[in-house]
Amino acid sequence: MATYVIDERDNQLGRSIVTDTDDLKSYYQDLDTFNAGALWTVANEIEPWEPTPMSDPTIWRFDDLRPHVLRSLDLVSAAEAGRRVVYLRNPRRKDVAACCGWLFSGLQAMRRGEGTPGHRHAASALRYIMEGKGAYTIVDGHKILLGARDFVLTPNGCWHDHGVTEDGEISIWQDGLDIPLANALEANSYEVYPDGAQKQLYPLNDSPYSYGAPGLMPINDSWQHGYSPLMRFSWDATYEGLNNFAKVTDGSPFDGVIMRYTNPHSGGHVMMTMGAHQQMLRPGEATKAHRHTGNVIYHVSKGQGYSVIGGIRFDWKEKDIFCVPAWTWHEHANLSASEDACLFSFNDFPVMEKLGFYREQPYLENDGHQPIIATR
Ligand SMILES: [Fe+2]
Ligand SMILES: [Fe+2]
Repeated sequence: MATYVIDERDNQLGRSIVTDTDDLKSYYQDLDTFNAGALWTVANEIEPWEPTPMSDPTIWRFDDLRPHVLRSLDLVSAAEAGRRVVYLRNPRRKDVAACCGWLFSGLQAMRRGEGTPGHRHAASALRYIMEGKGAYTIVDGHKILLGARDFVLTPNGCWHDHGVTEDGEISIWQDGLDIPLANALEANSYEVYPDGAQKQLYPLNDSPYSYGAPGLMPINDSWQHGYSPLMRFSWDATYEGLNNFAKVTDGSPFDGVIMRYTNPHSGGHVMMTMGAHQQMLRPGEATKAHRHTGNVIYHVSKGQGYSVIGGIRFDWKEKDIFCVPAWTWHEHANLSASEDACLFSFNDFPVMEKLGFYREQPYLENDGHQPIIATR
């Protein structure tokens, strides 16, 4: 835990206000001998007044990282690396290899004709395709072709491997996983697929072709899992959906025109631990600030603008990635007067909601906009 900063609110009945004496110090030592302690010595520290983010607001600009992601192609083979991923490390989360909070993220590059060995883990995974041609994933035998800005699931416990077809091009995608969460809960595990890459067990693209039509469910549907049977959410349909919704809504004051990727079977989040959104900021739109529990990692699908996160302004453009730590004020703005800007994001909201921890608060001062204290 970070060094506790004494809060003036701690100086009241209801919080620990014990003044240590020599007798108490001796008592603490005695308790320590038996692997025990006095709660009032740590209570104010372990019970913060408000949700306390453990990550820094951070941006990873694609122009900076792309050459290094491509360098990895020559330095290690996809097979040897297992996953040839440059991971995005929050400055305050190095110990758990997290991008933000308990979420992991990275950029993975693959040459045409390459593939990763099949494997599965208790952690859930998702992908957001950034560039290239011919990328595919196989999830529990379902082979799915992937294009730029497609959002793809590899839910927890599913066998999966990825690759690029022989006639494809070098492809880069963003990975998002809840590895740090699964580890923190001491629930993660990993298995290697026994025969290298998986065999395709179903017709190509059977998941999006069965479940990808809006408002339609296959008549023989018998899906039993807690995650979505639709594992590829294509960009074209998503963008069309946002544009249609924009015709009939003022949008959210905090997020513009925002839609949640959903499990068509349940209407709920796409996976049990991670959710995802796509949002559109209309030309010139600047949202108001709010904060909530849960960590969010954003990926700029298109356009250019900036977000103010914890008072720091981060300018972004297409393919940049940035994060909003839990309970940190944030607002977004589209800098173009003529083009929309779209943000993909994924989060740990399903966990917050299931555990009863989800909270949200609007920023009420200064007409909803934070004072900018720094720019990065
Ligand atoms: Fe994986
Ligand atoms: Fe938000």
